[in-house]
Amino acid sequence: MTKKKEVRIGLIGCGFMGRTHSNGYNRIKNFFPDLEHLPVLKVACSRNEEKAKAFSEQWGYESYETDWKAVIARDDIDAIDICTPNDMHAEISIAAAKAGKMIFCEKPLARTLEESEEMVNAVAESGVKNMVWYNYRRLPAVTLAKHIIESGKLGRIFHYRANFLQDWTINANVKQGGSDWRMDAEVAGSGVTGDLLAHCIDTAMWLNGSIGDVSAVTETFIKERVHQVTGKMEPVGIDDACIFHCHFDNGSLGLFESTRYARGHKAFYTFEINGEKASIRWDLEDLNRLEFFDHSDSSEVRGWRSIHVTDGDQPYMDKWWVPGLSIGYEQSFIHQAADFLESLASGQDFSPNFKDAFDTQKVCEAVLESAASKSWKTTGL
Ligand SMILES: NC(=O)c1ccc[n+]([C@@H]2O[C@H](COP(=O)([O-])OP(=O)(O)OC[C@H]3O[C@@H](n4cnc5c(N)ncnc54)[C@H](O)[C@@H]3O)[C@@H](O)[C@H]2O)c1
Repeated sequence: MTKKKEVRIGLIGCGFMGRTHSNGYNRIKNFFPDLEHLPVLKVACSRNEEKAKAFSEQWGYESYETDWKAVIARDDIDAIDICTPNDMHAEISIAAAKAGKMIFCEKPLARTLEESEEMVNAVAESGVKNMVWYNYRRLPAVTLAKHIIESGKLGRIFHYRANFLQDWTINANVKQGGSDWRMDAEVAGSGVTGDLLAHCIDTAMWLNGSIGDVSAVTETFIKERVHQVTGKMEPVGIDDACIFHCHFDNGSLGLFESTRYARGHKAFYTFEINGEKASIRWDLEDLNRLEFFDHSDSSEVRGWRSIHVTDGDQPYMDKWWVPGLSIGYEQSFIHQAADFLESLASGQDFSPNFKDAFDTQKVCEAVLESAASKSWKTTGL
């Protein structure tokens, strides 16, 4: 067996995403055995020593650190994986780029367009390989949607519709700050726009091309919440809900909605695309299925068909079990990491990278500006 080239990982932030990425790295060797490169779990970093130690042992890291700067300073690390809240993405990325490390950064790229631009410039100057974890692209049904669109089966596209609905902040006792950093504009940058719609926008621009302009409305339903760090009741600065419509460069119209106040919904990310010849739709809560309506079917059998995307010739599914058996959410991270490693061997550009995520940030910024000014905004794309 030829010796694998190692990509030695330094993971910063041992929360939800720290777990999904670590799980991904661990499973690559079994399910993508032909890759030339393999991730090596070198160090996990959390500010709390007990947590850093426990996490590194649980997920198989060789060592742990409590200061992210120490991770970047180590010469046995090739790639920095940023799984911290959004306020740390820019500082860590820029330091990692200067140290010549590859960077795998969680989304959204940063809190603001300014921070994102500095990050894009830093990786351009240093030339380090980079990627951003817009992982939904790599669920088989979503990748299949891309293939179907590229094959021309939909024809001219008229409509792109996406939702990302949750209900976890309806309770006024949910705090802001600390572990509830998503509720704190200082840390998160924005609310549902950067947290949830950023995913919808990334998928949309990947499937349907660039967005030219937007018109948005946002709402903050609960105006004050206790801050975990100060213990005081403080104004809420994030958007609790956001609805926007837009023009895509291909002439189609987009309609996007996100909220954390849709009782009954936990992670209801859906999209539907309507073309002149056919339509497709997808739902994260039933992620192995892609629905497809083909107007050229004979009228007796014409209707929405539900494709169970588990066959070996459908995207990624030759890597898993046998046809008919499902995979899950975790695979989106495994597939993204594997595709990135493959790009190192092939020399091809990897997407989504910092530049792609900067484009998504431009749309998010235009959405927030449009809502604030109650006017249409161009994205600059
Ligand atoms: N791709 C996706 O689908 C997806 C899903 C969830 C979250 N995210 C993104 O991932 C990032 C992390 O989100 P999460 O849900 O994992 O949050 P989390 O709160 O579960 O985990 C973040 C961790 O970072 C740690 N941390 C904070 N500052 C640190 C520092 N200076 N050094 C080391 N560790 C530090 C926190 O203690 C916490 O354990 C965010 O940017 C978020 O937007 C992406």
